[in-house]
Amino acid sequence: MPSNSMVVLTGAGISAESGIKTFRDQNGLWEDHKIEDVASPSGFRRSPDLVHAFYNARRAQLQSSKVTPNAAHKALAELESRWKGEFLLVTQNVDNLHERAGSKNLLHMHGELLKVRCTKSDQVFSWTADIKKDTKCSCCNEPGTLRPHIVWFDEIPFALTRIYVALQKCDIFVAVGTSGNVYPAAGFVNFIPAWASTVEINLDESLISHSFREHIFGPASKMVPKFVEKIIKGACPWHS
Ligand code: OAD
Repeated sequence: MPSNSMVVLTGAGISAESGIKTFRDQNGLWEDHKIEDVASPSGFRRSPDLVHAFYNARRAQLQSSKVTPNAAHKALAELESRWKGEFLLVTQNVDNLHERAGSKNLLHMHGELLKVRCTKSDQVFSWTADIKKDTKCSCCNEPGTLRPHIVWFDEIPFALTRIYVALQKCDIFVAVGTSGNVYPAAGFVNFIPAWASTVEINLDESLISHSFREHIFGPASKMVPKFVEKIIKGACPWHS
């Protein structure tokens, strides 16, 4: 196995075959809601009950027995375990399917569905139950201070410094199942060194396909394991 440095970015497409809907395949609606109503600080201020109900449903769905990591999540975990160099997995997804598949060096740049944050103390807690407008916070014991630990529109993603440091020294950058609509993630491919390899794995062309040298089009559950197998066998040009 090579000892280069690899960064993998994943988006909603990698979890689609695990039963979690993507964002932009539904006429601008996300589970029948306008994205800005349920994924923005102004939407939360306007209607905290609606936003909590929306994330309660997502949280319950994620914990149902029907939603499990698929072959693409598992293949990335295997790749990380066998990779000799530095490996960072950055996901835009708020589900926990990568960690359930066994990924270790993982950053959730858009937050995590199974965590909440106290808006008073900024403390973050694991949370699996429903939340209501008046649910009491575990740290300050006050009602109404909890919000989903999710990065909404107009907010800054998490861990950007660590991500940019890794991007600027990586040899291989791979993006899986992301449409290239949302920055800064859509611009990550522009931060890697000029000599690095860039691979996009997606169902079809994305808005950022032109920035990648290599393209693998098809469902992630088939294409990611094939790609990983090729790397493990040393059959990728950048490993010879
Ligand atoms: P999108 O829904 O915008 O894009 C999903 C991409 O995955 C599309 O390009 C699809 O063609 C592709 N796709 C769908 N099914 C696939 C499959 N089975 N295999 C491979 N690819 C598949 O999702 P993201 O790009 O992740 O942010 O969206 C980025 C951000 O926009 C999200 O993290 C979310 C949203 O607003 C926040 O919530 C902050």
